[in-house]
Amino acid sequence: MLHSIETRSLSKSFGPVTAVDDISFTVNAGEIFGFLGPNGAGKSTTMMILTTLLKPTSGQALVSGFDVLTQAKKVRQNIGYVQQESTVDEYLTGRENLLLQARLNHIPKNQINKRIDDILELIELSDKQNDPVVTYSGGMRKRLDIAGGLLHYPKVLFLDEPTVGLDIQTRRKIWEYIKKIHTEFEMTIFLTTHYMEEADQLCDRIGIIDHGKIQVIDSPQNMKNSMGNEIITLVTQDVLSHDSFLSELEKIETINKINKDNDKLVLFASKGTEVIPKIFQISSRLGIKINSISLTTPTLDDVFISYTGHEIRSDDSGFDRKREHAKMKRLRA
Ligand SMILES: Nc1ncnc2c1ncn2[C@@H]1O[C@H](COP(=O)(O)OP(=O)(O)O)[C@@H](O)[C@H]1O
Ligand SMILES: [Mg+2]
Repeated sequence: MLHSIETRSLSKSFGPVTAVDDISFTVNAGEIFGFLGPNGAGKSTTMMILTTLLKPTSGQALVSGFDVLTQAKKVRQNIGYVQQESTVDEYLTGRENLLLQARLNHIPKNQINKRIDDILELIELSDKQNDPVVTYSGGMRKRLDIAGGLLHYPKVLFLDEPTVGLDIQTRRKIWEYIKKIHTEFEMTIFLTTHYMEEADQLCDRIGIIDHGKIQVIDSPQNMKNSMGNEIITLVTQDVLSHDSFLSELEKIETINKINKDNDKLVLFASKGTEVIPKIFQISSRLGIKINSISLTTPTLDDVFISYTGHEIRSDDSGFDRKREHAKMKRLRA
């Protein structure tokens, strides 16, 4: 099977709010695919449809080849889902949490201990497995959460904002674990994030989602390349007197524009890293000394702004499911 996930015109409304608006996309088997978008963009809602926890208002979704509406049980057997908020029991130990999870997932009794040992080793929690989770750091808890989603060896792993709220060092650590898991288990990973760097570092392909709509899907590199020119800034000794240098530079096809500014040349190029060696060849041939050279490439931030018209907002709060659940509980009590 080629596609691990496929949606066709998927939509989800909550009363007047259209959270997911007619989205169609595919995720290839084995890739790490990410939804990048601000709070309230519709990321979690899409994920909850794909994990069979919410029913779409319209449209269709297949996960691991099974329909989320008509074959929900099959879908659930093939996926792991790690929610944004931790679901582990703080007063149990790490290992006890995984034992509980293993039983919930109907893992054959004679395999449980071995699987837990292996996974604890993979996420480097073996030596803390008998400590109560209440003593764990945020990063350790997240690793345990992810471990819980892996015990039944799912084909597709869903991670909703896997590093939200963690400090940057811990976040980077979690990225390493995610990459390790991806290689070890050869699974498809679908994650959501509003961190540019996370999408950039982890994902083979990204869908930028805003107001329930997918604006663009591509690899981070292609997205950045599509932004056009990279900028090479070159400082030489007295460039203006070297007309031949300029006319040679102009012959390089991937240089699209040159600005002169005293001893500084600013080159706009489509493949900056390939242009730089050529510049050095020309300068050494002509005996021109280059004092410094720098390359600026477009970032994913530039890409995001160009497709959505705004910067990613990480401060405003989207739909807070935890708060909403607490409210419902109070209302019911
Ligand atoms: N259960 C719900 N009831 C009402 N509105 C909801 C519910 N879940 C999500 N929403 C709304 O749907 C939109 C998308 O939310 P969500 O999928 O949680 O976004 P994201 O995960 O990208 O932050 C938001 O406007 C949010 O307020
Ligand atoms: Mg969310």
